[in-house]
Amino acid sequence: MAKDSWTTRVGVILAVTGSAVGLGNFLRFPGEAVKHGGGVFLIPYLVAFLIVGIPLAWVEWSLGRYGGTRGHHSAPGIFRSLFRHRSGSYVGILGTLMPVMIYTYYVFVEAWCLAYAWDFLTGRMASLGGSGEEVQAHFFGLVGATDHGSVFAAGGGRILPFVAICFVLNFALIYRGVAKGIEVFCNIAMPLLVVCAGVVLVRVLTLGTPDPDLPEQSVINGLGYMWNPVQPGTTIWATLGSPDAWLAATGQVFFSLSVGFGLILTYASYLKEKDDVALSSLTACAGDGFSAVVLGGMIAIPAAFVFLGPAVVEDPPGTFGMGFIALPQVFNLMPLGQFFGFLFFFLLFLAAVTSSLSMLQPSIAFLEEALGIGRKPSVAILGFITLAGSMFVIWFSRGFGALDTIDWWMANFFIFIMATLQIIYFGWILGVGEGMKELARGAEIRLPAFLPFVLKYVSPTFLLLVFGYWAYREIGGTEDKPGRFAQLLSLPEEGPPVVQLSVGLIALVAAFFAFVAAAGNRRWDRAAIKETTP
Ligand code: ALA
Repeated sequence: MAKDSWTTRVGVILAVTGSAVGLGNFLRFPGEAVKHGGGVFLIPYLVAFLIVGIPLAWVEWSLGRYGGTRGHHSAPGIFRSLFRHRSGSYVGILGTLMPVMIYTYYVFVEAWCLAYAWDFLTGRMASLGGSGEEVQAHFFGLVGATDHGSVFAAGGGRILPFVAICFVLNFALIYRGVAKGIEVFCNIAMPLLVVCAGVVLVRVLTLGTPDPDLPEQSVINGLGYMWNPVQPGTTIWATLGSPDAWLAATGQVFFSLSVGFGLILTYASYLKEKDDVALSSLTACAGDGFSAVVLGGMIAIPAAFVFLGPAVVEDPPGTFGMGFIALPQVFNLMPLGQFFGFLFFFLLFLAAVTSSLSMLQPSIAFLEEALGIGRKPSVAILGFITLAGSMFVIWFSRGFGALDTIDWWMANFFIFIMATLQIIYFGWILGVGEGMKELARGAEIRLPAFLPFVLKYVSPTFLLLVFGYWAYREIGGTEDKPGRFAQLLSLPEEGPPVVQLSVGLIALVAAFFAFVAAAGNRRWDRAAIKETTP
């Protein structure tokens, strides 16, 4: 098996930034911001970004490079060498399970973006006009949101060719490898994405006040909604005092930076021992923060505000509603909207591909190194698992039932567990002194003197507090909204038990990875014995 690695420094930074910049920045971030008071959401977001986002990214880059120099490119292998024990590989399967399960629905949303870009390009979207009902009916029909299996029924299925294109593109690039597939694609897609986003942003910022009868619906007021911490009729404490907002901000930072789910561990493992990780990581984090706050926040929110009025931001239509129902209406109302709508959804598609690629590589690396197989069989095995998973998500599409369940368990629950484990490992088990030495090797910036204190005390405390509250609220739930564990234990009165089936699917994939980890342990044990036998 030829050893794969990044060819240039810019290449690895663009690939990691590509992994980070995705639907999370352009759809999830504005969605969360409007849900939590607009501008004031930036405060918990920035605090979480600084206290746990950047430190955890540094931790993952360092641990990933450490594992890579010991011949491992997947979280199970890397954790085995970190723990110096076989049990590490079982803990590490979280770092392959999460990306794979997130991929199963992420690629579906990626296909919606491609379908929307196509619909704008071919004029189908323009024919729907600015009416909310028509755009909503188009969206629900496309994704099968009203009935399970409707995408596969006669008359449905428009989305399936787009899903197929996304699958083929992702797997073709992964098959080509880290340097020839991921790096080459990100080198082209990332600059293109920035250009598309810049053009759409300029269009939005020059909208002025399109309807003179509604002078308050101006772009300045739209920007005000995004940037002013204090909105009329509320105080900043409504958000800052709400643990919900802190949870949402922390989860958003992890999801957006691609930390806490094993992606950066794998990407960083292709670095060489003396390659810088400190500055590269910071650059990727800065790129991600910029594209969420500046590009994501300043496109969706002001545009929706200008054309649809304050109601759309005061009573937000949910993350998907904002992106796939509100924004298309906005583009349909805007001069040259067909072109800008195409550009926006095409940029979402590019952003999604550079992220979904990074969700496949950890498992490809794991299958290759644990089973000792080549690229072809590992791509075939992962292709089968992800295709089956995506078909499951697409089938159980009513109310996004399967998508929502898998998203919650992976991107909210396990992401916190993996993040907390890594930060505690770095600060307390490896020891913050050793950890800092690892991070500082080859560093091209001076790391702040207070960083060890943050890594050892501040980040874990913050995470444990947020997670403690989360567990208390979600596990217990409230009377009108049962927690996720309660949902899992009660079968629905009618219809298929989508929550239980989705969790069953996660357990099945986890069991498969545990089996692969066991095989990997046997191989690695044999290799270790061979090395120590004279
Ligand atoms: N980090 C990726 C995103 O923001 C997963 O979409």
